Amino acid sequence: MFPQRRMRRSRTRVIQPLLCETGLSKNDLIAPLFVDETITVPLPIVSMPGQFRYPIGGIAPVAGDLWKRGIRAILIFGIPRDKDPEGSSAYHPEGVVQQAVRRVKAEVKEMVVITDVCACEYTDHGHCGIIGNTRGGPDLLNDPSLELMNKIAISHAKSGADVIAPSCMLDGMVGSIRAALDDAGFANVLIMSYSTKFASALYGPFREAADSGFAFGDRTTYQINPGNSREAILESQMDADEGADILMVKPAVFYLDILSEIATLGLPVAAYQVSGEYSMIKCAAEHGWIKEKETVLESLTSIKRAGAELIITYFAGDAARWLDEKQ
Ligand code: PBG
Ligand code: ZN
Repeated sequence: MFPQRRMRRSRTRVIQPLLCETGLSKNDLIAPLFVDETITVPLPIVSMPGQFRYPIGGIAPVAGDLWKRGIRAILIFGIPRDKDPEGSSAYHPEGVVQQAVRRVKAEVKEMVVITDVCACEYTDHGHCGIIGNTRGGPDLLNDPSLELMNKIAISHAKSGADVIAPSCMLDGMVGSIRAALDDAGFANVLIMSYSTKFASALYGPFREAADSGFAFGDRTTYQINPGNSREAILESQMDADEGADILMVKPAVFYLDILSEIATLGLPVAAYQVSGEYSMIKCAAEHGWIKEKETVLESLTSIKRAGAELIITYFAGDAARWLDEKQ
């Protein structure tokens, strides 16, 4: 007790750096990128100031720039020209993601390329898979949608993706994709599962970014209720058992309690700082109400402190620069 114990003794400017418990490094960060098949010049995403959709021809230079800044992984989302009820443009060999992956792999060879595997950008109804009638009305059909995800995953792997990230929250999704990849000769492609994904209002700006707003209903019959913790842990545990290589919690900062528990399951864990988290910080900072750099680095440090190995963040490029300045 005081006065023998003085906590401030360890907080002096000379001692404090030695006792820092949580490090943040550029190796921890994954940059999400939006590739749009219908544009020829970058298109600003209004609800996410500073973020753009890039044309297919523009994606490799952006990846190259991130690589130069020290970012070693990107997560690619595609906006296709054609949408239909079955999301069939998602597994076309010349689809937008397939082309983007090939270009990045050709021009930025060591960049780790992760692809989002879901159908909501490719279906005309905007839901994450195949829709059919159920007792509760039109809803996402589980097992038919698994077949679709297998096809998308294989086509991404064929294009050269290093890591497949299924984000549709279907039951059996990881086991099904693992078997499909193994059968197709892609045993070395990793699966980073969106294993614990909440039905969050924080995905709002992503609807504009990825053109994936839904025509009816919502995603609460497949994503997790934000109040449910036990269910959230079980979801990640099941994906671990089905063979996921990396688990994920999404969103990040509202769900740090969940993240710290999932970090005990024995697999690497990623956290996704989602579009709404980005835009809240960005908007307040643009008004001068908070300091952007300090807020971003604090949020990323908190996510790491809670137990994430990896952070998917739209701030990746900026954070890399700020981390360089710090040294
Ligand atoms: C697709 C997907 C979404 C996000 C990532 N993948 C949207 C959703 O689930 O509704 C959200 C990412 C973000 O908000 O930054 N299923
Ligand atoms: Zn989706």
